[in-house]
Amino acid sequence: MDVKIAPSILSADFGRIVEQIGQVERNGASYVHLDVMDGVFVPNITWGPKVIADLRKRTKLVFDCHLMIVDPERYVDRFREAGAEIITFHLEATTHAQRLLGHIRSIGAKAGISICPQTPVAMLEDLAGDFDWVLIMSVNPGFGGQRFIPHALEKIREARELRERSHAKFEIEVDGGISLENVRSVAAAGADVVVIGSAIFDTPDCGRTTKQFRELLDGASAT
Ligand code: DX5
Ligand code: ZN
Repeated sequence: MDVKIAPSILSADFGRIVEQIGQVERNGASYVHLDVMDGVFVPNITWGPKVIADLRKRTKLVFDCHLMIVDPERYVDRFREAGAEIITFHLEATTHAQRLLGHIRSIGAKAGISICPQTPVAMLEDLAGDFDWVLIMSVNPGFGGQRFIPHALEKIREARELRERSHAKFEIEVDGGISLENVRSVAAAGADVVVIGSAIFDTPDCGRTTKQFRELLDGASAT
């Protein structure tokens, strides 16, 4: 079990963003998790492709782009051009998820699908061969710093069962409310990638905290 860390820069200090990305990169992060919000699908607004393209030049970490926007099919090409290697949209945000997953693959990105807390894993059953990445929300999307919803642990286990049953290869990412206290239970439930926002960037030294998460996860895999 090698659980990867995807720091969410939603909680980073944008006046020091390149420096902070460098700190998490040097201390065990594998991805940069980029939360794109449109103020419609979620009640918050962040950034678009220009910011991602600029950051793309400043780090070697893989860009994991989490689209919390309505009609994601209108924008995926632009996020791909900006340098997103993984593009995840919400099942709840589009009518034709299967077609969009195929399109994301066709433009050379990993195709990700995300489900909000109210959406059961069973809704992904007929798509299991069509995505490379599933993002299970463990908070209601929109803001950092919210409390982890424990039922997400059961959903991680269900996603693993779906993967086995369907002989699919997708990775399981979990996003929201992950802390030094609960990260091992998320890993033990079967997450491949953990998104961590405020628990890294709301600490005085984001590099040191990333290292603490890395050590906890490495310890968990040794036992
Ligand atoms: C929430 C975002 C998350 C957020 C996680 O809608 O999708 O990626 O940044 O932040 P924390 O880890 O603080 O819950
Ligand atoms: Zn996210």
